[in-house]
Amino acid sequence: MILQEMFGVDLGSDTVKIYSLKKDEILIEKNMIAVRNKDEVLAVGNDAYEMYEKAPHNIEVSSPMSGGMIANIGHLEVVLHLLLRKLSRHFGSRPIVYFSVPMNMTEIEKRAYNTIASGGDLRKSRIYLVERPIVNALALGIPITKTKGSMIIDMGAQSTELSIIADNRVIISKPLAYGGNRIDEAVMANVRKKCGLHISRRMASRLKNAMAGFSRDKKEARKVIGIDAVSGLPREGIVTDTIVNEAMRRIVNQMCEEIQVFLERTPPQIRSSIVQEGIYLTGGCTKITNLSAYLSRRIECAVKTSQYSDLSAIYGLKEIITHKTLWRWAVPARSKRRKRKF
Ligand SMILES: Nc1ncnc2c1ncn2[C@@H]1O[C@H](COP(=O)(O)OP(=O)(O)OP(=O)(O)O)[C@@H](O)[C@H]1O
Ligand SMILES: [Mg+2]
Repeated sequence: MILQEMFGVDLGSDTVKIYSLKKDEILIEKNMIAVRNKDEVLAVGNDAYEMYEKAPHNIEVSSPMSGGMIANIGHLEVVLHLLLRKLSRHFGSRPIVYFSVPMNMTEIEKRAYNTIASGGDLRKSRIYLVERPIVNALALGIPITKTKGSMIIDMGAQSTELSIIADNRVIISKPLAYGGNRIDEAVMANVRKKCGLHISRRMASRLKNAMAGFSRDKKEARKVIGIDAVSGLPREGIVTDTIVNEAMRRIVNQMCEEIQVFLERTPPQIRSSIVQEGIYLTGGCTKITNLSAYLSRRIECAVKTSQYSDLSAIYGLKEIITHKTLWRWAVPARSKRRKRKF
């Protein structure tokens, strides 16, 4: 029986993914919190998302992350602790928490990870940070120690991270401050333009998840309920896949341009290794049908999609937790207290 509890935590702007070693289970919940009158926590995770865009004015439903970064430390701490409780009733004497984190964090941002996992039952926890491109690479099976240049694109909800691994480390990383949420906004705008209907963000996200894709054979449409742009009254409308995909394509093309510029600026030897190997794609947006084929045509380079998509980082953390040889990728978040000299 495993006595010590170890958790892997991938905090995304859209979803929190947590791996528990004791249970050998992954919990996936929306990164949301519902707060009444600014101080009473009503719900977190999927329960809070159920209230999103439906709750009265005195209940605020929001994500404690923004653009892949921690936006509200207090709220995130509550979300994390309550979700960990769903996986484990007893954390043991000294639980270990591994966080996958974005590259290029400031000291303040690093400290925030420390803060959210240092209170309550986690006060004796040991906290480690692992760079997200590394955990993605482990899940993708990239030989980190041998590669001469491997490129990973992590397309999340509010951020997209372009990174290159070579010489046993992440050598370049570029964050883009948008992801699937930008597609949702574009879908909302296109439905308003083409159907004269205001739809909610949740509805836009649902339409994208159901119909977004490149060169899909079958034509599709969905019945939606929204607010008429002229009368201001609720009414039904029909949204076709063409309306969704026009919007989606605009955002993906924007990403393609960024990827092309990034590749052009990569040193030639590394670029040739990337082109030879193909670019790796992870993150929830990779569920867009035929996205890899489209990107491959646009960038003129093979593109391989991770089998885990949005769960890639958490499977990488699981690899680290379950293989001692990989622990070297984890850096303690708490700097050791220096001995005082008197
Ligand atoms: N079937 C689907 N088709 C298209 N997009 C999808 C699909 N399923 C999920 N998504 C999108 O994937 C995104 C979530 O991906 P992911 O879990 O990787 O993001 P995150 O890690 O929470 O966010 P971030 O990395 O930006 O902090 C959301 O924008 C979601 O709408
Ligand atoms: Mg993510």
